[in-house]
Amino acid sequence: MNQQVKMPGVVLNYRDVGQGEPLLFVHGFPLDCTMWQAQIDFFSKTHRCLAVDLRGFGRSSVRPGTVTMEIMADDLASFLDAIRVQGPVTLCGLSMGGYVAWQFWKRYPFKLSRLIMCDTRAIADTEEGAQQRLQTADKVEREGAAFLADSMLPKLYCEASVKSRPELIESARNVILTNSTSGIAAAARGMAARPDVTSWLPKIKVPTLLITGEHDAISSVAEMKTIANALPDARHAVIPHAGHMAPQEQPQATNAAIQKFLGETAK
Ligand code: MLT
Repeated sequence: MNQQVKMPGVVLNYRDVGQGEPLLFVHGFPLDCTMWQAQIDFFSKTHRCLAVDLRGFGRSSVRPGTVTMEIMADDLASFLDAIRVQGPVTLCGLSMGGYVAWQFWKRYPFKLSRLIMCDTRAIADTEEGAQQRLQTADKVEREGAAFLADSMLPKLYCEASVKSRPELIESARNVILTNSTSGIAAAARGMAARPDVTSWLPKIKVPTLLITGEHDAISSVAEMKTIANALPDARHAVIPHAGHMAPQEQPQATNAAIQKFLGETAK
């Protein structure tokens, strides 16, 4: 069930299911918290699953302009305070959710017990990539998000998923088309402005699991392996027959990797 929490300047929508140690799920771009349904179904039997719509997405409020990864990380910290989650959480972020997670570590290390980084990157956009994002942001505001859905869906899901799971792709398309165009544009501008965090990696001491879909076309297995090698306490699970959206495309394998990690790093 969706719930809303009102904080200064922002209303965040979230799902809060199960009891126990909190797992905070942070979605990718340009999606919403519904992408984590298979993880919520599985882990809510043993954990408190909190899945948030980031500012500008799903049913959360929208701030037009530019919303940086730092602002989104601040929102998550305020959210945890507002719903009175005491003690550190395990943060599981996918792609843009991962960019937010790096910022969350930097700004709120005391609120973090573990990281699960799915299909994400540590480097910034190239100059050209950032320019393209800014153009995409303006175009989404002018024309709507249909062109973005058409161009992104084949990059988000691997070919086998596109062929065998049409309902999954359709539901992602609906999410993209339902999201606010100003919200999508603001996050795209925020991603274009995000810093390279590679130099932070050796300092991130919390146990970290990296998850990559074998066929991820956005954050490759090789790139995520480089991140894993730079982190002091990391494991890397490559999920077969999945693209960038491994948690949705192969939920059983993804959940098994997360469950193993949670077990190995239990205090
Ligand atoms: C995402 O899945 O969040 C996006 O692919 C991130 C990006 O475009 O860099």
